[in-house]
Amino acid sequence: SAQLNQLAKAAGKLYFGSATDNGELTDAAYVAILEDANMFGQITPGNGQKWEYTEPSQGQFDYTSGDQIVDFAESNGQIVRCHTLAWYSQLPSWVGDGTWTVDTLTSVLNTHIANEVGHYKGQCRSWDVVNEALNEDGTYRENVFYTVIGESYIPLAFEATAAADPDAKLYYNDYNIEGTGAKQDGAVTIINLVKDAGAKIDGVGMQAHLIVGTIPTQSDLETSINSYLSAGVTEVAYTELDIRFSSLPPDDAGLQQQATDYGTVTQACLAVDACVGITIWDYTDKYSWIPGVFAGSGAALPWDENLSEKPAYSTISSVL
Ligand code: XIL
Repeated sequence: SAQLNQLAKAAGKLYFGSATDNGELTDAAYVAILEDANMFGQITPGNGQKWEYTEPSQGQFDYTSGDQIVDFAESNGQIVRCHTLAWYSQLPSWVGDGTWTVDTLTSVLNTHIANEVGHYKGQCRSWDVVNEALNEDGTYRENVFYTVIGESYIPLAFEATAAADPDAKLYYNDYNIEGTGAKQDGAVTIINLVKDAGAKIDGVGMQAHLIVGTIPTQSDLETSINSYLSAGVTEVAYTELDIRFSSLPPDDAGLQQQATDYGTVTQACLAVDACVGITIWDYTDKYSWIPGVFAGSGAALPWDENLSEKPAYSTISSVL
């Protein structure tokens, strides 16, 4: 039977993809599924391109981890979404705890982006340029960049990325912006902020870290997508999709609800031409980030811990 990326492409999407991480690439059974471009036409490095790894001390760049994932994807003919540049989390302490002026931190941000995006030039279909810049109420998150530079760090990051790789699609990426509300309005404000500064923004990435049985309706998912397109981006994507259980283990009815929820997100992407693809945040519960961060939660992905397909897999494939 046809596999997810094949089905997504036949439905007019660019890809169906997965995140992965360096340590997992020694698991042969895991890799056998991940490397199949009919299943996953796109890969996102789950960690290796983050600042703490790529510039652990000022001016010392290290692309070992990121390169391993990007090279893996390229050798399999898979598209790469590159992730991520300006983010408050997984920042090395020299940035997060540094003593900065507007000028010195602007220089640090520009240098980081020029170096990293330059290193990966031509290898990234897209970059998540700015990640998670919003609070839940739609205001800007108090991170080191915002506190020192102000909101202009956002267009500045987009300008620097465009300068270093003019062909990459440039994304704003966040969670809880899949449905409608204050945070989704905040993402629209960011699109306008970047455009008003004369910088390029191509897309909005909706992370979609969702909870079984509580996801937005398909109508709200589409309304949110359309609000981004109306504000002037040309594409959107589900960039980190997982749909977790808040208590474990799930029963059969729960697994069916999870399948329905994965189907709803897939339907929303299919319903809007400008939704270019769906990326799940790893494909198996064996390597999901969820249990480590949301204690007691998990079972969020379409493959279980034994790499067997769950009901969510069947529903995604039948919807595609
Ligand atoms: C997560 C990784 O999956 C974990 O391994 C890491 O410990 C923390 O970060 N939003 C993002 C991703 O944009 O980079 C995060 O990835 C998950 C939430």
